[in-house]
Amino acid sequence: MRLRDKVAIVTGGGSGIGKAIAVLFAAAGAKVVVASRTLAALEETVREIRATGAVALAVQTDLLVEAQVRDLVQRCVEAFGGVDVLVNNSAAMIPDEVEVADMTLEHWNKVLQVNLTGSMLCCREVLRTMMPRRSGSIVNVSSIAGVIGNPKRSPYSASKWALNGLTETLAIEAGPQNIRVNSLSPAATRTERFEAAVRARAERLGTSFDELMSKILSHYSMRRLAEPMEVAKAALFLASDDSSAITGQNLIVSCGFHMLNPTEIR
Ligand SMILES: NC(=O)c1ccc[n+]([C@@H]2O[C@H](COP(=O)([O-])OP(=O)(O)OC[C@H]3O[C@@H](n4cnc5c(N)ncnc54)[C@H](OP(=O)(O)O)[C@@H]3O)[C@@H](O)[C@H]2O)c1
Repeated sequence: MRLRDKVAIVTGGGSGIGKAIAVLFAAAGAKVVVASRTLAALEETVREIRATGAVALAVQTDLLVEAQVRDLVQRCVEAFGGVDVLVNNSAAMIPDEVEVADMTLEHWNKVLQVNLTGSMLCCREVLRTMMPRRSGSIVNVSSIAGVIGNPKRSPYSASKWALNGLTETLAIEAGPQNIRVNSLSPAATRTERFEAAVRARAERLGTSFDELMSKILSHYSMRRLAEPMEVAKAALFLASDDSSAITGQNLIVSCGFHMLNPTEIR
């Protein structure tokens, strides 16, 4: 039980990678608080976790609203006495592809506000409870798009590069209080959202889902995508004492994509 008696907040815990992280952390002994805008999805995660005998709580939270982020951390402290682990997993996954030359400020700001400012607010609020206790671990779910450029998705890419900068900066600021801060960068992961995006792109290109997937996979040295639970295992490593001397790092979870990544399939 690598997170026995720990309390973890997982944003975006109602779907995809965040849900896998919440379920895995609960299985590792943590009391898990899941947070995002869609209460029904969060409650489904909580139901699944409670069915295993573990403890979980759903807190509806829009990261764009500062007061709701404050309330999220407050409710976690009230329910479980503190916060040991924060996973900043939520992200605005806007499907529109647009080059900078055609960018609207609205599109740009929305992505930055969720992915970067929302994550910073969550860090700020948990640090206020972690610092006096001189203990904590923060895991920021970044992306391979935060390591290499991502044409037509500049706000997403810029937000993830910035999240990595926030990670390293916070690791320096909070290190003296025994708080570790790391990020992990998945490449494409086999979530429903990713598969829907590939289906839509295949339709646009007039090709089949299978053909496009096999083209995509040819650029992953392992010829497959990571499963959400594999990304969750990397998050568990960074959240737990298994990585007790590791801080300020960005762990790439890409099935080998970061070594073979031509622009046309990003
Ligand atoms: N899947 C991939 O291929 C992949 C690759 C690289 C990196 N990632 C990263 O992995 C993380 C999870 O992505 P995913 O693929 O699992 O996608 P996902 O299922 O769409 O997860 C995104 C989550 O963010 C939450 N969210 C969005 N806006 C929010 C807001 N304003 N306030 C609070 N929560 C908000 C969503 O919940 P609500 O809509 O309920 O708010 C959702 O649960 C993201 O950080 C993403 O950048 C994913």
